Amino acid sequence: MTTLGSEKNLRIGLPSKGRLSEVAGELLSQAGLNFRRQSRGLFARVSGLPVELIFLRTDDIPTLCAEGAIDMGITGSDLVEESGVDTEVRMRLGVGRCRLAICVPDDAALSSAADLDKKRVATSFPNVTRQYLKEKGATAHLVSLSGSVEVMIQLGVADAIVDLVETGSTLAANRLRILDEIDSYETVLIQNGRCRDKETADRVVRRLEGVVIARDYSLLEYNVPRNKLSDAEAITPGFNSPTVNSLEDENWCSVRVMVKRGDVIDAMERLENLGASAIIETPISNCRL
Ligand code: PRP
Repeated sequence: MTTLGSEKNLRIGLPSKGRLSEVAGELLSQAGLNFRRQSRGLFARVSGLPVELIFLRTDDIPTLCAEGAIDMGITGSDLVEESGVDTEVRMRLGVGRCRLAICVPDDAALSSAADLDKKRVATSFPNVTRQYLKEKGATAHLVSLSGSVEVMIQLGVADAIVDLVETGSTLAANRLRILDEIDSYETVLIQNGRCRDKETADRVVRRLEGVVIARDYSLLEYNVPRNKLSDAEAITPGFNSPTVNSLEDENWCSVRVMVKRGDVIDAMERLENLGASAIIETPISNCRL
């Protein structure tokens, strides 16, 4: 059985199961943080780095990070906020985006959060919910649960629920609608202030940033008439500035530039209309900027 190693090793808490566990494991291995977890093992060592991974319940990760049991952790920013603990968000990982929403039956005669005064609200986020309702001038009876919140109205436990919404299919299946949105959240990497090895923590962050930024960007290459270069650069300004090379034909040049994946199609069309040719998109898997 693998156990905790040197006291000096950086400890990173990872979700032990579920989708977030897969997402986090994939991200680490793409960033060159390779490890082998024995089935149901609680610890794993990262090869070639003084880093140990500790597999934990996602909702315990903020507290354990703040207490110093782990130096860093991957968890949801919703859970960080609900826990109310003091940790630093080192980076947003660009996955697991969701909204925390107040939801009521489709046919409920309620139009705002203020209407929940003296009503019953079931949620796994009692602290965030209490605070939000207070801001809206409502004091509700909170029913604090750890899961399956969406069935609580049918069970007669609550008049409304506060739950995470991603695609909205859980709401539709339970004939619920969003009354109000409290906030948006995503998966984050957190760190405690007393981190035992800040240098390695920074290396981990740089490695993960390389992958997270690469997932968001493509490399676009194209040829463009030199007299249209400044217009082309306005369409694709890049991170700092595009790389421009000369071509045999001195009236033309070639451009290499990073473009947000969501903007690539639009940029290609605009470049083509400008007179650019040989426009090629290449996905990138890692980068250092
Ligand atoms: C979350 C949340 C909702 C559902 C929303 O549950 O609590 O039930 O996802 O997603 P949707 O809008 O795409 O339907 P999760 O699957 O994380 O499990 P949980 O019920 O244990 O929290």
